[in-house]
Amino acid sequence: MSERILITGGAGFIGSNLALSLKRDRPSATVVAFDNLKRRGSELTLSRLRASGVEFVHGDVRSIDDLTNAGPANIVVEASAEPSVFAGYGSQPNYVIHTNLFGAANCLEHARQYGSDFVFLSTSRVYPINLLRMLPLDKDGSRFVLRSGTHLPGVSATGISESFSLTGHRSLYGATKLAAELLALTKMNVNNAAFSDGTPITLAFSRMVSEVLKQVGPEMPVRSEYSFYM
Ligand SMILES: NC(=O)c1ccc[n+]([C@@H]2O[C@H](COP(=O)([O-])OP(=O)(O)OC[C@H]3O[C@@H](n4cnc5c(N)ncnc54)[C@H](O)[C@@H]3O)[C@@H](O)[C@H]2O)c1
Repeated sequence: MSERILITGGAGFIGSNLALSLKRDRPSATVVAFDNLKRRGSELTLSRLRASGVEFVHGDVRSIDDLTNAGPANIVVEASAEPSVFAGYGSQPNYVIHTNLFGAANCLEHARQYGSDFVFLSTSRVYPINLLRMLPLDKDGSRFVLRSGTHLPGVSATGISESFSLTGHRSLYGATKLAAELLALTKMNVNNAAFSDGTPITLAFSRMVSEVLKQVGPEMPVRSEYSFYM
């Protein structure tokens, strides 16, 4: 089978541009843009996608049947989202949760089923709003820059890195993207079972804990800091 790349949210800003550049760089690959066209204006990208040889499949990541209809792929790029930080405030939060979290779970399952590589587009909005707002910024022309001499974990002039704190509240958008990230890492762990001779790490580790507990006699109380694992 020739290479097949499935891009969910493929009619969106990032998804459509990615689809066009992948098709340009890999002309023999089948590039499929999958989108429910929820984003106003996303339908305007369709003619450009089609003219460049990108296939379009109308579908919704909330539906595993729609994803199945898009067919197998060597690579799944999950770029669909409700990307507004205001989504779910003052209105039903269902759409943002069901698309960003359950939809990502469906995409992961689709990738697992066909053994596809998986690329997930996350966001700096996974980091807490208050911590980001407390960063000392200066105006430099038309943009804000980090005040020089600022030394904080995970912060530099190039942006926010993974070592920035995750403690604090965030938007529903950020919360669902963070949850989807954790799910993707967990699924990768469970599906690949890389360090445990075929046993998912979580199971392998729980067996190790039981081996350790065998060494603990009944007269020895379990230390409170280990109670989380019991
Ligand atoms: N644009 C940015 O600056 C930026 C920054 C950080 C992260 N991201 C992430 O990149 C990804 C793409 O963002 P974007 O800026 O292209 O947004 P976008 O709104 O332009 O594209 C998202 C696409 O997903 C589609 N979509 C929404 N709900 C869907 C559903 N249930 N099923 C199928 N398709 C659905 C929309 O119709 C839209 O075409 C998102 O995951 C977003 O979180 C974007």
